[in-house]
Amino acid sequence: MKSGMKERTRAAPAHCFFILFFSQGFLLPGQAGAGPYTQSAHGNDTGGVNRSTVSNYSAGNCAHCHEQHASIDGEEPSPASASASPFALFSDNFNNTVQAGPYVMADNFCFYCHINAGGVQSGGGVTNYQYAITYGGYTTNSVTDILGAFNLSSYHNLYDIQNFAESKFSFFKETSNPCVACHNPHLAKNHQDNPSDPAYSTISKPTDHEAVWGDGANERMSAYTSYRPPFYYGSTTTYEPGGVALHDGSQTTDYNAFCLDCHQYEVPVSTPGLASMNPNTTAGHLTAINWSASGDMHGQRARIYDVGGRGSACWGTIIAPYDAAPVKSNYVLSCLDCHDPHGTVLVSGGGRPSSYLLRKEVNNNKVDGCGPGAQDFCESDFCFSCHTNSHAGPQGCIVCHYHSGANKNCAGPWVGPTF
Ligand code: HEC
Ligand code: HEC
Ligand code: HEC
Ligand code: HEC
Ligand code: HEC
Ligand code: HEC
Ligand code: HEC
Repeated sequence: MKSGMKERTRAAPAHCFFILFFSQGFLLPGQAGAGPYTQSAHGNDTGGVNRSTVSNYSAGNCAHCHEQHASIDGEEPSPASASASPFALFSDNFNNTVQAGPYVMADNFCFYCHINAGGVQSGGGVTNYQYAITYGGYTTNSVTDILGAFNLSSYHNLYDIQNFAESKFSFFKETSNPCVACHNPHLAKNHQDNPSDPAYSTISKPTDHEAVWGDGANERMSAYTSYRPPFYYGSTTTYEPGGVALHDGSQTTDYNAFCLDCHQYEVPVSTPGLASMNPNTTAGHLTAINWSASGDMHGQRARIYDVGGRGSACWGTIIAPYDAAPVKSNYVLSCLDCHDPHGTVLVSGGGRPSSYLLRKEVNNNKVDGCGPGAQDFCESDFCFSCHTNSHAGPQGCIVCHYHSGANKNCAGPWVGPTF
């Protein structure tokens, strides 16, 4: 919604915001049935949206997010914004003058509630943990809210996401929220309390924004014949997500298809200092990820050696659970077996320009080995979550092993992918 709208809507009463949307040609899919929204985490009539300054609407009501400017009972409930906001939200959707983190609450509409204290949701905010904790069982919280996750040193840059999504996806408007590239706030479900059931997924593919991704049986990692989820933290008998015995991928969303909606392309990146490890990638961009049978070893390309490895120079093995019978010839990993979707700690050392959203805990292994504190993160120990190895280290593995990496010499010419 652009400027002209302001004039027409300023005087309208609060309960007219539905009319406003329809007069602007917006329609909320599924609204007629009311089902999807009331089943969403936000629409829940007990735990859903509930702004403490908006007491005349019950929990879950749209009015906790949408309002006319200065219009509920003639006053504008907190937070007050200087002018009408896009989509009649209670604040501006995203402050795109902030091109890099750290972010503050007012930079993003979602942060007004997805903050652990001082927010507008009753109780002061919403607690959320990182992926490795909620789904992986890791126990050391770096952060306890979404704002905190995006303020970690390695994070998905919201300005770049907004620009990229606007350039690629037609549903995404100039004033759309970068979080909305991955989540539909009218559909996202309560996955954190049901981590083993992707029917409660929170995400929507940017190419299919009006549906939740992961709730369909064919939208799971079991779509790949040889996915095996990593161990749950502290266990060698239960698996992600949430510590389950079953390990056929049917309880994990197909994150690959989701992430590749964007990462099949070289995405532009503006975060100061952040660059690709890959010398063949266009400057100012990140590598296009090829997870197909002609791409990476961790994707659908079949590995060259057995789990016992090559057994000579540049040797390494693949460890549990991947070496347990029946050993599959071509494991396909999920992006979130290695990455966290929002943010992770900075990995210092190793000559890397970023820590690339790499998880601090992978396959029942707390990644450390190179010093004290949360930033203690050795590349070798990251790889040792799933491998043993005979060459190089403790840092420098990803100088040779990176997405689409090939032809990286190691004691003799080697042709073919090394990641
Ligand atoms: C958690 C906050 C939240 C709640 C609750 C919410 N919305 Fe929204 N809504 C948004 C955001 C954010 C956008 C802007 C989407 C974007 O950035 O592109 C939006 C956009 C819209 C749009 C514009 C079209 C679209 O889908 O983007 C309509 C229509 C709409 N909302 C209606 C509703 C109705 C009706 C309800 C209650 C049934 C509701 N919303 C509840 C946050 C919310
Ligand atoms: C690049 C895609 C992406 C972006 C951008 C993104 N998220 Fe997420 N988010 C995810 C994925 C993937 C999950 C994992 C949960 C799942 O699969 O249901 C998640 C989980 C969540 C959860 C649930 C966490 C839990 O406790 O399980 C919340 C809340 C959330 N995101 C809010 C946000 C907010 C707010 C923003 C913007 C500041 C945002 N996200 C931006 C991909 C994204
Ligand atoms: C008015 C407060 C409010 C705003 C604004 C808000 N949320 Fe939420 N959000 C909540 C509450 C409350 C929950 C439910 C928490 C729970 O049940 O644990 C929730 C849950 C979620 C979940 C599901 C997480 C889970 O695993 O339970 C996602 C995803 C999410 N929000 C994303 C967003 C995004 C993206 C935005 C901005 C477009 C946004 N929220 C704006 C209050 C808000
Ligand atoms: C086995 C662990 C692992 C898996 C699985 C994995 N990644 Fe990565 N990813 C890494 C490592 C290590 C790096 C840092 C080296 C590099 O840049 O390739 C990285 C870097 C990246 C980068 C930055 C690339 C650049 O040019 O700097 C992107 C984007 C990325 N990953 C996306 C994905 C997506 C999308 C998936 C799933 C289709 C995925 N990753 C699966 C380990 C993994
Ligand atoms: C100088 C470049 C280089 C560095 C640095 C390097 N590697 Fe390698 N690595 C290779 C090459 C090339 C191969 C493939 C050799 C072959 O299979 O013939 C390889 C193979 C591997 C294999 C699979 C081998 C097999 O037997 O299946 C693993 C696992 C591995 N490396 C892990 C690591 C780890 C962990 C580190 C960091 C501690 C590391 N590498 C550092 C170049 C390198
Ligand atoms: C809506 C598009 C979009 C989706 C979906 C998306 N990304 Fe990204 N991602 C980007 C953009 C744009 C960048 C470059 C800006 C930045 O560094 O955050 C990026 C950057 C990254 C980086 C490098 C970040 C750094 O700081 O080193 C990694 C790793 C990554 N994405 C992994 C993922 C994974 C894993 C998923 C799926 C859970 C995913 N992305 C989904 C758009 C997307
Ligand atoms: C979450 C577990 C996991 C992590 C973390 C991981 N790998 Fe792997 N890796 C695997 C699995 C499983 C395979 C076998 C894929 C297949 O069967 O096609 C594999 C395959 C490989 C191969 C190909 C071996 C061959 O025979 O062709 C190389 C090389 C490799 N990994 C290197 C690395 C390096 C270097 C790191 C750290 C940067 C790393 N991996 C991190 C699980 C992992």
